[in-house]
Amino acid sequence: MTKTMSVLDRTQEETGPESEDDFVRALLSKMSLEDKIGQLQQVDASGDTISDALRDAVRAGKIGAIINQVDPSVCDAFQKIAVEESPHGIPLLIGRDVIHGFKTIFPIPLGQAATWNPELIEACARVSAEEASAAGVNWTFSPMIDISRDARWGRIAESFGEDPFLTATLGASMIRGYQGEDLSAPNTIAACAKHFVGYGASESGRDYDTTNIPLNELHNIYLPPFKAAADAGVATFMTSFGDIDGVPASGNEYILKNVLRESWQYDGLVVSDWDSVRQLSVHGLTDGDRNAAKEAVSAGVDMEMAGSAYAAHLADLVADGEIDLSRVNELTENVLRLKFRLGLFSAPYARPEACTLPCAQEKLDLAKQAAIESTVLLENKGGLLPLDASRMNRVAVIGPMSDQPYEQLGTWIFDGDEALSQTPLAAFRASLPAHVQLDYVQTLETTRARDTDDFEAAKLAATNADIAFVFLGEESILSGEAHSRADINLPGAQSALLEQLSATGTPVVCVIMAGRPLTISDVVENSDAVLFAWHGGTMSGPALYELIFGLASPSGRLPVTFPKMVGQIPIYYNHKSTGRPASDNQITHIDDIEVGAKQTSFGMTAFHLDAGFRPLFPFGFGLSYGKIVYDDLQLDRHQISPNESIRISARITNCGKYAASETAQLYIRDVAASVTRPVRELKSFQKIHLQPGETETVVFELTERDLAFYRRNKSVGTEPGEFQVWVGANADAGLTARFVLEA
Ligand code: BGC
Repeated sequence: MTKTMSVLDRTQEETGPESEDDFVRALLSKMSLEDKIGQLQQVDASGDTISDALRDAVRAGKIGAIINQVDPSVCDAFQKIAVEESPHGIPLLIGRDVIHGFKTIFPIPLGQAATWNPELIEACARVSAEEASAAGVNWTFSPMIDISRDARWGRIAESFGEDPFLTATLGASMIRGYQGEDLSAPNTIAACAKHFVGYGASESGRDYDTTNIPLNELHNIYLPPFKAAADAGVATFMTSFGDIDGVPASGNEYILKNVLRESWQYDGLVVSDWDSVRQLSVHGLTDGDRNAAKEAVSAGVDMEMAGSAYAAHLADLVADGEIDLSRVNELTENVLRLKFRLGLFSAPYARPEACTLPCAQEKLDLAKQAAIESTVLLENKGGLLPLDASRMNRVAVIGPMSDQPYEQLGTWIFDGDEALSQTPLAAFRASLPAHVQLDYVQTLETTRARDTDDFEAAKLAATNADIAFVFLGEESILSGEAHSRADINLPGAQSALLEQLSATGTPVVCVIMAGRPLTISDVVENSDAVLFAWHGGTMSGPALYELIFGLASPSGRLPVTFPKMVGQIPIYYNHKSTGRPASDNQITHIDDIEVGAKQTSFGMTAFHLDAGFRPLFPFGFGLSYGKIVYDDLQLDRHQISPNESIRISARITNCGKYAASETAQLYIRDVAASVTRPVRELKSFQKIHLQPGETETVVFELTERDLAFYRRNKSVGTEPGEFQVWVGANADAGLTARFVLEA
């Protein structure tokens, strides 16, 4: 019998979930202050073995959670010490960043967002949870639901892009995938909504930098995905590294207490980000670790990740009356409650049986489907794609991302199995008909290389080929945490290579594999077709083969606006109107301005003289092999009272000769309100599949909740008045109509 069972009157299995509070309080009542503080500590436990110091600390009950250990035998050894030797036999939380797969790697989250497919994202997270729980992991630090409007920010790769509704929807799906129906089941893990809140708004896209987020934007843009995560039952939240209105998140009482605990009634665990409690002093909020611990505890950070401010100072803060013991009790209860919910008191050990088919074919098929649906067809001049492989004689495969099993996996793949990774070159070689000759010239050793020695060989291969397939982009390490870029052009000599290949006259299909939107006007100009494949994960290669040769149909849609130039950032579709909105017929270009012209602001609007106001590609954009036509927009009424809903329908027809998926998007605009509202806001979407000639009517329903926002009086609700609605293929298109919300 384990010590847990001997210490507690009843086992977790016997108590049942309804007595979670009793169980937690009974345990808490037996714990000393020191035991409680131990539960608030998460430590780095990477390495092949357990050090003596860590062993002693776990045995003494000084550790509540570990991070970065995925060897099942080491995880189990840790749990055994905690369960059998520590004062109350309390099992450990074992955390790991399982961000877009564990062994089987799915597209980066930004790529997954491009699928606009919540069920698919849930299925990928389910597989990740199974694989991770088999290793002993019971907690992942995912999903990252930070709204990301800045392609320079390296962590945009981990996000679902710029839109609150899309992020909220997909974040909730990912949470359901990790946590399943029952968090205590052997193959589920706790999810973590991070980084609360506003991390993605860091100035200039520099990681960790300050944010400037007015209350209105905080509530209308940055908080909604977190509210949706709380509503979806996410087990944990993580604070952001950022400084929000002068108070860094790990000490920010407004967001942690007023919003999360009081307004949303959240009862899960809040963990700091890595060492971010101590960093309150680096920010300049506090003057040392003691006050940093005091601020974080007061604000509501339950557990300190990879820092020692709590361990060093909490006991003294309580003894000196600066922190009330009841506060420490609340924090500890949140930790114990999560352990209870995970079923750790009954089943603390690694659960290999929960993952019956590690990396089985079904998982690879799922990874391929996710890679297919994440890929966005940005250009297809003259309908070049799809190609008929049987009609090819000779093809050229060129470029630094053609055959990079590791680099195509993307950021945060600590445990990803590189051996499983299938590249485009491998897929082309395996799948092209035997008669097709394939010439491969990598040309550039990395995406950053500038050495043009192999350009002639690449041009010769292209010249001799029916088609040149050019795989460009960014290596994994150029995006992700602490990997922001100020220049988001293709790195190295890639653009020059593409230009020279284009000049050969051979049709060029360019595939970009990258962790962020890139400024690729030149790519669009110098290619006949462009596929944006992100970092697509394990099955990138086969997915791209199927798309290019028409075995699958491109259906990805951009979850983020693509700028023409980096200087346009921030550029996002749901911006405010301003008093002088730009429109196509008002633009003057820098070259059109007379030399010596006198200054005037008359007729001037919100745009750049050298870039205009439009992006390269709008949010929601993506082509297919079909020819999709929207018509017959219908509203079932044109006036609604607050408790009524309105049905909006549109007819969609595929007039092309290939089957296609279409993602119909519903946007609204609240024409006049007590605070200015975005020019468009996504409120719903539906992904449908249409055979050639097929028509389908999509029907959306809007309720009062969809029209609500954070108002000037600092409450959430609707305001009467006119709304404009669009149904269409992206944020810059659509059939439109108006309706009125009555008072
Ligand atoms: C990141 C988190 C991550 C944590 C643990 C931090 O640096 O910001 O997102 O979960 O490390 O690895």
